Amino acid sequence: MTTKQKINVAFIGCGGNARGHGRSVSRVEGVEIVALADPSENSLAAFKENVGLDASLRTYADSGEMLAAVNPDAVVISSPHGLHFQHIMESLDAGCHVHTEKPMVCTVSHAKQVIAKVEETGLHLLIGYQRHLSPTYQYCRQVVQSGALGPVHFVEAHQSQNWYRNQQGKWRQDPFLGGGGQLNDSGSHLIDILLWVLEASPDTVFAMIDNLDIEVDVLTAMSIKFDTGALCNISIVGHAYGGVQEDFSIWMEGGALYLRAGKLYRQEKEGGLVEVPAADMPEGANKDAVFIELIRGERTENPIGVENGLRVIQLTEAAWESAKLGMPVKVDLR
Ligand SMILES: NC(=O)c1ccc[n+]([C@@H]2O[C@H](COP(=O)([O-])OP(=O)(O)OC[C@H]3O[C@@H](n4cnc5c(N)ncnc54)[C@H](O)[C@@H]3O)[C@@H](O)[C@H]2O)c1
Repeated sequence: MTTKQKINVAFIGCGGNARGHGRSVSRVEGVEIVALADPSENSLAAFKENVGLDASLRTYADSGEMLAAVNPDAVVISSPHGLHFQHIMESLDAGCHVHTEKPMVCTVSHAKQVIAKVEETGLHLLIGYQRHLSPTYQYCRQVVQSGALGPVHFVEAHQSQNWYRNQQGKWRQDPFLGGGGQLNDSGSHLIDILLWVLEASPDTVFAMIDNLDIEVDVLTAMSIKFDTGALCNISIVGHAYGGVQEDFSIWMEGGALYLRAGKLYRQEKEGGLVEVPAADMPEGANKDAVFIELIRGERTENPIGVENGLRVIQLTEAAWESAKLGMPVKVDLR
């Protein structure tokens, strides 16, 4: 029997999303949740109950205090977006590996500071963009990257969610805490997966944005031209009914991939439209388990690293700028 290296994990931000991390991290052999930091007593209590932790587990209102007192090996950050930068930097400074929820940070300048800190410390930082570990998107990436269906000509992707109504008055619609609106919230998943599947650099973006009657973006229509010549239309619809709905289409020289309501279809010159069976897709993985594997050296490549976080915010900032100016802008990738 092998004994796994013991990893002590603390949580910063213990709301709704953190509980899922708490449950999956606890299932990893040799991992112990040693402390929680969140200013909300309700969130702390609900987290303990939901994850099945002892009521006596140490809790802190302040993350800095927790890091100093507990000295964990790793942290999971699931706080409001505008606080990610502070929480990531203080955790890395405290010598902790970091699993931060998306978006990594909310400005390009912050992303570059995080990258420098990760390089300086040599610690791992994984971002919660779980689509990198989904069989469906891994399959799409493999088809595109292998060139099996030739070069990409056009991508269309949209995402909708009942975000405007559900988040009224909450931190997600606060310009600082939300770090932007729906484009940098759920929309950041779509931007991230687009860039990851294509592995191409966006050259120009033209975005039109409607905030409705709040301070941050709710509806975004954006067109992108990539350095490969591929064109792309993205729609982020933050005023819809229901949970996240996502469609994704990739047209290549030799065929196309269509992701519709969770099902993936492949079309080639001959043979019509065929649903891709699960057996043809790579195996998926759980991001919390992957984070621990990275720390233990059981996995050498970080599948969702800091560069992914930088690329998302570079394109997002360019889209905000384009919408403000009312004209296409070059994406600054420096
Ligand atoms: N990957 C995904 O699919 C996914 C899904 C949902 C949420 N998320 C991400 O998870 C994060 C949290 O979202 P949520 O839905 O759980 O929100 P939430 O509002 O349920 O939880 C946020 C928590 O952060 C706490 N908090 C506020 N200020 C804090 C501080 N200074 N220090 C520590 N904690 C603080 C709040 O009290 C609250 O408990 C966000 O980054 C969000 O984008 C990711």
